[in-house]
Amino acid sequence: MSLKRTVSAVTGFVLLMIMGFPVHQEAEQNNSNPAPALSFFSLLNSAQAKQPSKKLIAEGKRLYNQNCVFCHQEDAIGKPGVAPSLINKEFLSTASDKFLKSTIRDGRSGTGMAPFAHLGKSGIDAIVAFLRSHSQLPNISAKVDAQPEAHGDPRLGERWFDQICATCHGPKGNGYEAGGTGTAIGKAGFLDKASDGFIRTTIKQGRSNTRMLGFQGPAGLANLSDQEIDDIITYLRSIKH
Ligand code: HEC
Ligand code: HEC
Repeated sequence: MSLKRTVSAVTGFVLLMIMGFPVHQEAEQNNSNPAPALSFFSLLNSAQAKQPSKKLIAEGKRLYNQNCVFCHQEDAIGKPGVAPSLINKEFLSTASDKFLKSTIRDGRSGTGMAPFAHLGKSGIDAIVAFLRSHSQLPNISAKVDAQPEAHGDPRLGERWFDQICATCHGPKGNGYEAGGTGTAIGKAGFLDKASDGFIRTTIKQGRSNTRMLGFQGPAGLANLSDQEIDDIITYLRSIKH
């Protein structure tokens, strides 16, 4: 890990040196005077700008504590039947920024998750930077979202859903209002924002330290095949409400 970091830091440095060179030359030719050292550092700064600053994360934490902590709890660990964890490691690694930001902006109609559009893009960006600062796994959301769409038999999916998912997620995926701990995965607020890959990966691997166990592999609560999982996703899409 640290070797990898060192290597990428060195590569980054070399790249910046190479990239910095023409800028430096151009500056000299134009006879305008940013010192070579300055143009090098401004490049370095713009490369670092991609990492959210401590200031942005602190602002996100402040906004989180003002608007979200009441339901999602201290440090966003969630509470069964009240609000899901927002720092769960599998969740953060599979949820794209788009999923997070649009869910925060639009909320989930028919659930306790209200829309927070009034926080503005910058406020929502800050909250997402705060949530992401808890990440423990690499962000694989682009790969997850690029998975193929689910093709299955909704009638078979319904059987599985009623047998094993409805206890927690409620009949028709109605969520907490049915008295369980699973979110409203049959409602549009979730389905319109979640890709099939995101739903599929969540069903397979679950979310550690929550009641959402994985449903594939020897550690799974039930060992559903890829096809059975796609049947369930097809069923959920068919009952979206
Ligand atoms: C009144 C309680 C409440 C407040 C306040 C609240 N949420 Fe939620 N949030 C919920 C509930 C309940 C859900 C799950 C809804 C469902 O059943 O699908 C949720 C879901 C979410 C999700 C989707 C999580 C997942 O597992 O897919 C995100 C992201 C989220 N909330 C972010 C926020 C942020 C950020 C704030 C503050 C700006 C916030 N919420 C404030 C209750 C709340
Ligand atoms: C023992 C209860 C339980 C069972 C059974 C269960 N889930 Fe979950 N599921 C949860 C909980 C709890 C969460 C949210 C985790 C949290 O609260 O942080 C969740 C989250 C999810 C999510 C992500 C939803 C979101 O809002 O981001 C999907 C998708 C999902 N479950 C699908 C399923 C499917 C499909 C089944 C049946 C094969 C199933 N679950 C069975 C409890 C359960």
